[in-house]
Amino acid sequence: MRRLLVTGGAGFIGSNFVHYWLDRHANDRVLVLDALTYAGNLANLEPAKTNANFRLVHGDICNGELVESILREQAIDTIVHFAAESHVDRSIVGPDAFIQTNVVGTHALLKAARKIWLGSEKQLQTHRFHHVSTDEVYGSLGPNDPAFTETTPYSPNSPYSASKAASDHLVRAYHHTYGLNVTTSNCSNNYGPYHFPEKLVPLTIVNILLGKPLPIYGDGRNVRDWLHVTDHCRGIEAILERGRVGEVYNIGGSGECENIDLVHRLCEIADHLFAADASLRHMYPSSPAAQGRASKDLISFVKDRPGHDRRYAINAMKSRTELGYAAKVQLSAGLRDVFTWYVNNASWWRAVMDGSYREWVREHYSM
Ligand code: NAD
Ligand code: TYD
Repeated sequence: MRRLLVTGGAGFIGSNFVHYWLDRHANDRVLVLDALTYAGNLANLEPAKTNANFRLVHGDICNGELVESILREQAIDTIVHFAAESHVDRSIVGPDAFIQTNVVGTHALLKAARKIWLGSEKQLQTHRFHHVSTDEVYGSLGPNDPAFTETTPYSPNSPYSASKAASDHLVRAYHHTYGLNVTTSNCSNNYGPYHFPEKLVPLTIVNILLGKPLPIYGDGRNVRDWLHVTDHCRGIEAILERGRVGEVYNIGGSGECENIDLVHRLCEIADHLFAADASLRHMYPSSPAAQGRASKDLISFVKDRPGHDRRYAINAMKSRTELGYAAKVQLSAGLRDVFTWYVNNASWWRAVMDGSYREWVREHYSM
């Protein structure tokens, strides 16, 4: 039986991981530590609320004393560290929060883990600190460059990726210097349920449903490798169960796609869904698809993001050979499923977009 501390478990990937883990590891305890920033949403954790093995603590990873007390009192043996500021555009406008949470916060967690797991209070036979990072630390690829491997030199280009790179180095250093049992995963762009509608996939879906413009930065030819969030959770599970301590594993989706192509695919999915189900026209009357027009008419090319990385691609050979891991969800099927999730969960994204989910949180949770 494991006792997990999941940081950032109220965010997009963290909440999907909590559901994934509780579904498959019925005897494990999962405690989420989350500061509930704009990206943290307790509605994401609603399905876990009644599970006796689930608990939430509202707090900041930068609070070392709080983290130490959780590790000590809950006898945590595994940390899965998702908590971060995660949006590149926000890091360009305001980098400070990224340094604070991603660098200082990760260091606070490492210090607490070292103290409780390796210091004089040491009680557990075994422990693991798994750090969730990104392929963006490797920089930008040209069209014909080989995909990122675990030994590709770091070359981060945005304040977000630079802060994640710094945190990766700290995790590595705590293994080499102090013997902390760490693993790190660097994954590609995730998509799936509970994705905050500021990122490309959920923003495009929601804007199609609302009949709003679909902003494409620059020429739209930037390439990302799309990974379904469930595949990402399986990859982390494989690392926790079979990964070697001190190692880094890349997790990719084998789903390279240009942004403009991705948005076209989502537009086509919308057109098909609306053509097949007349009730959608009443649910989303402002969508072009409800009026017999093509969703792609909403595409709008806008000014490029400063320093916009051209291409990311993951070589996942190490995860495949060492862990027996490969992504299962094909991009076309995954995009259809996630589009359908947003169609059926309008109350979730409407509340996120107008901020009223915070009232919902206050009503449902006394904090
Ligand atoms: P997210 O922005 O949806 O969620 C982040 C969560 O962390 C939120 O619940 C937020 O409240 C919490 N948080 C932020 N600051 C905190 C603090 N100081 N203390 C405690 N909690 C805090 O992010 P996500 O998309 O779920 O990403 C999760 C992790 O995966 C991040 O580390 C990110 O860098 C990494 N990652 C994400 C992607 C992606 O495509 N989304 C790709 C690669 C790597
Ligand atoms: P995003 O979802 O922000 O993830 P990341 O920047 O971490 O890769 O963006 C994915 C790609 O989509 C990226 O190349 C930027 C682009 N993009 C747009 O073209 N329009 C948008 O409105 C957004 C949010 C992103």
